[in-house]
Amino acid sequence: MKIKRATTLSEVLDAEPAFDYTVDPEATQRFLRSPEHHLLVAYDSDKGVGFVSGVEITHPDKGTEMFLNELAVLESHHRRGIGRALIEALAALARERGCSGMWVLTERSNPAAMATYRAAGGTIDSDNIMIDWRFDDRNPSEA
Ligand SMILES: CC(C)(COP(=O)(O)OP(=O)(O)OC[C@H]1O[C@@H](n2cnc3c(N)ncnc32)[C@H](O)[C@@H]1OP(=O)(O)O)[C@@H](O)C(=O)NCCC(=O)NCCS
Repeated sequence: MKIKRATTLSEVLDAEPAFDYTVDPEATQRFLRSPEHHLLVAYDSDKGVGFVSGVEITHPDKGTEMFLNELAVLESHHRRGIGRALIEALAALARERGCSGMWVLTERSNPAAMATYRAAGGTIDSDNIMIDWRFDDRNPSEA
């Protein structure tokens, strides 16, 4: 298994089977043009089998942190350490880029995600809740 940073549409498409929806070329180009957006793809031989995406968020007063936006591994490749390796690779990139930390939102009802984030060294902050605003129906709030 190897992990590579995607910098082209074709590399993003390598990870498409692990995405929730079809990759949108226009949104992908916008993603790739931004140096603060990162997509790391896990390969088994030449096949993309998982990905993690992250976005650098900068505060005027607190510097930059990495928001782990999405993580997914193909079901056929679960429980082989790929999810954990992807998180560790994004954390290494975050450190390299001078981020002060990394955070993610997930659901308590997702034991795989909870176990994987814990295994990768994350600590749970039980005080925070997520509040969102939806402007279209592309990303259902339960996704
Ligand atoms: C969450 C997900 C990415 C984990 O990927 P994975 O490659 O199977 O995870 P790993 O093999 O790296 O597992 C990491 C640790 O979590 C544990 N774990 C993984 N899945 C688990 C499960 N279903 N139940 C309990 N523990 C689990 C592993 O045992 C491992 O523990 P260890 O390091 O102590 O041995 C994968 O289940 C997935 O794609 N789920 C659907 C998408 C999703 O829910 N993404 C997260 C949304 S926030």
